[in-house]
Amino acid sequence: MTNQAESIKHVASPLARQTLLDSELTRPVAGGRPIRLLPWVQVVKIGGRSIMDRGADAILPLVEEIRKLLPEHRLLILTGAGVRARHLYSVGLDLGLPVGSLAPLAASEAGQNGHMLAALLAPEGVSYIEHPTIANQLAIHLTATRAVVGSAFPPYHHHEFPGSRIPPHRADTGAFLLADAYGAAGLTIVEDVDGVYTADPKGKGGDKAKLLHETSYADLAKSAGPLPFDRAMLEVMATARHIQHVQVVNGLVPGRLTAALRGEHVGTIVRTGAMRN
Ligand SMILES: Nc1ncnc2c1ncn2[C@@H]1O[C@H](COP(=O)(O)OP(=O)(O)O)[C@@H](O)[C@H]1O
Ligand SMILES: [Mg+2]
Repeated sequence: MTNQAESIKHVASPLARQTLLDSELTRPVAGGRPIRLLPWVQVVKIGGRSIMDRGADAILPLVEEIRKLLPEHRLLILTGAGVRARHLYSVGLDLGLPVGSLAPLAASEAGQNGHMLAALLAPEGVSYIEHPTIANQLAIHLTATRAVVGSAFPPYHHHEFPGSRIPPHRADTGAFLLADAYGAAGLTIVEDVDGVYTADPKGKGGDKAKLLHETSYADLAKSAGPLPFDRAMLEVMATARHIQHVQVVNGLVPGRLTAALRGEHVGTIVRTGAMRN
């Protein structure tokens, strides 16, 4: 009886007897690059404020472009939040709500935008799918159809990091985390500007801002100025395992998204910390 109990306790595993906190010990076991789960999926993040909030003028041409792209690519389209989330933030902050209560409120707007986009693409077999489906059944959905739409917000919700009152992990971070976790073919971030500039091109003195054709997460992290994506995305880019760069493109210019998905350089390429091979 005693012997049997002892043999059950001895599980042969390289991590069984060591702390998970010592990277010297864990690296030989956990340091390798994970497999790519969906190497053929292209992830496209559509801006809430920059695209969805503009309504039909911006959305309908983009829907038409996506429709034409479907025979070429299998897409995970992720939508962000825009002006309604900003209103929720201001009301919630005024009420003193913690960051973990604000995160799901903003995420719900990203979901609303996704539902609208999916409805427009429904004749092509595109549906909105919820996070648990993205997490567990993306492969079967993208085998049955060419594209699905989901919310780009990561589901931190009440687990959102308390460093700021406004949730730091928003749609761009969520899209990047998914693209890297799936080992996707690429991530394209669709905005209403030609890419990342040295300063906000629509802000004060924006006429002097210069478009950066290529940059890196490390270079952008050095300056504190505003960016057209969540600053938290730079942090996850630093430790990315698969996605070597993202491209930020202008979705108001017809053809830019198509070109980006074909591997053309038509916006700003932001390199991550992921190594080749
Ligand atoms: N360094 C920058 N380069 C480009 N755009 C910037 C920069 N800083 C701020 N912006 C602004 O970000 C806007 C996009 O806002 P954002 O909040 O990212 O929208 P969305 O919700 O659609 O992602 C652009 O229209 C631009 O005015
Ligand atoms: Mg943005």
